[in-house]
Amino acid sequence: MQEAPRKVSLTGIKPTGEPHLGNLVGAIRPALELAERYDAMYFIADYHALTTIRDPDLLRHYSRSVAATWIAAGLDTDRVTMYRQSEVPETFELAWALSCVSAKGLMNRAHAYKAARDKNAEAGKADLDSGINMGLYNYPVLMAADILLMDADVVPVGKDQAQHVEYAADIAGSFNHLFGRGYKLKIPELVLPEAQAGKTLPGLDGRKMSKSYANTIPLFVKESQLKKLVRRIATDSTPVEAPKDPDASHAFQIFEQFATEAEAAAVRKRLEAGGMGWGELKDRLFEVLNELLTPLRARYDELMEPDSELDALLAAGAERARARARVVLSNVRTAVGID
Ligand code: ADP
Ligand code: TRP
Repeated sequence: MQEAPRKVSLTGIKPTGEPHLGNLVGAIRPALELAERYDAMYFIADYHALTTIRDPDLLRHYSRSVAATWIAAGLDTDRVTMYRQSEVPETFELAWALSCVSAKGLMNRAHAYKAARDKNAEAGKADLDSGINMGLYNYPVLMAADILLMDADVVPVGKDQAQHVEYAADIAGSFNHLFGRGYKLKIPELVLPEAQAGKTLPGLDGRKMSKSYANTIPLFVKESQLKKLVRRIATDSTPVEAPKDPDASHAFQIFEQFATEAEAAAVRKRLEAGGMGWGELKDRLFEVLNELLTPLRARYDELMEPDSELDALLAAGAERARARARVVLSNVRTAVGID
């Protein structure tokens, strides 16, 4: 019996910072697990990053760095289609067609746009749209184009992106309502992998690890820097001998994500019994992280060389993605009367 074709799962990664341990736990690992069950497509959303990044070298660097990180972390480019959004120009043609069927009011209600206006209001600015570019405003339409162009079945994203996926479904609905006699776009389904895993990694100061809080442990810093960062994780002044609550310790919460289950259980017991200090816990955490990251760092460094195979891998991914995209776009063009 022939197996049913697998569903397509698609997600975009905005290259706006150096990947950190939180991204590994909350985004990369769950995405690699999903790739076992779906035909996965992961792309670097470089044109989305352009809404905020104004330094061309930095955008170039982050785009390669994010791709190199995912591959170093185990993404198999033979089985997963990985590409740069900018290398699939069909995206931008579909984005225009979709903007012609998207309600402006929908964009007015988008979280990111509303948050930018609220910030202006708080700052007492008379023009609430001050400093807001059209890229930020149109962001949800471009994201809908990314998704609908690839005929994606499911879109795994964090909670903050859920509204955008709902918008994509909405916009597909409008298109189908107007042009559905000619061709119907597939309505994508939102999945929230984080909610299932429920893992939010704390950063150095105990708040969620995030580049916006400058409290991250980047994945590929030098060994000496990694050691320094681990030592900076906030701890209280409980003496070595005193019993400790592992679940209230940021260092332990991070340790638990990267140590084996047996080792995490053993360390938990020692902390609870008393006799294990924060210094020793951090030494163990550093060792576990360093052991995990050293081979990944070697692969990452190799891929980040200017003439590495990275750009060719991404270009090959883009070719595969474009083959899918052309079919959808050609159907859309015919359906609207442009062919
Ligand atoms: P940042 O907060 O550093 O700006 P992003 O918002 O770019 O990170 O997040 C990219 C992905 O990584 C998202 O899927 C997000 O849920 C995940 N992620 C980021 N930080 C964490 C964290 N501290 N714990 C778990 N997942 C995280
Ligand atoms: N907007 C997403 C983010 O900021 C990135 C993204 C762009 C995306 N296009 C997408 C995610 C399509 C899922 C599907 O993280």
